[in-house]
Amino acid sequence: MKSIVVLTGAGISAESGVPTFRGDDGLWEGHPVEDVATPEGFARDPELVHSFYNGRRSKLLGGIEPNAAHLALARLEREFAGDVTVVTQNIDDLHERAGSRCLLHMHGELLKSRCGNCGTVAECRQDLQTGVACGCCGKSGGLRPHVVWFGEMPFHLDEITGLLCRAGLFLSIGTSGLVYPAAGFVATARAAGARTVEINLEQSAGTICFGESRRGAAGELVPAFVDELLAGGDDAG
Ligand code: OAD
Repeated sequence: MKSIVVLTGAGISAESGVPTFRGDDGLWEGHPVEDVATPEGFARDPELVHSFYNGRRSKLLGGIEPNAAHLALARLEREFAGDVTVVTQNIDDLHERAGSRCLLHMHGELLKSRCGNCGTVAECRQDLQTGVACGCCGKSGGLRPHVVWFGEMPFHLDEITGLLCRAGLFLSIGTSGLVYPAAGFVATARAAGARTVEINLEQSAGTICFGESRRGAAGELVPAFVDELLAGGDDAG
């Protein structure tokens, strides 16, 4: 029985009402990316960065729900005979809420904070401000969203590489294939012999690297593909 690695991007959460990064309704809301998603931007204007992520956090907690694609991946993990790991670039918690348990947040989590003074990562469901003190070391001024900004190293890369090298199937859903290292996962999995499948509304920068591409909305195509995989027994490849 072979294992499955699923990479998800902003496109899987689009039908839940979370804007993608590079769509017409692009998430940066008029802010240059270097202002709100780099360590230098945070050092320059922490209140601006906090208010940007506070807005995203309150939207996420204010009625956004997992969609059929998130639910189908959780079902795949429960019912497939081999291991299924979801590696997500998304910082929302929609995979967890749908029921995925074997999940790696390579770009961090919006509902966590990290203290720059003591390194403690803590649950965070409220607004962050520069004056807020860390619950562990008590110092204020060091808390930031536990997310990966440009110029920072994504999380779990060694573990992800190991999973890609053992995978029978690599499935990529709703990602533009423009941001590395995630954009390079398909090449690693393919070189190791995995079947590679992309699901996306349109052609992406990575399409050419996949063995198979399916065009359409994740909310329709992911449940259908999961049905196919489960009907095929334990053979992911
Ligand atoms: P993008 O916004 O770059 O790409 C979203 C992709 O989803 C596009 O290829 C769309 O065609 C596709 N898409 C949109 N709606 C869809 C739907 N309903 N069903 C299927 N596909 C759909 O988002 P990401 O690729 O996730 O990193 O972006 C990667 C990284 O760039 C993010 O994690 C973030 C950003 O900068 C950091 O912040 C570090």
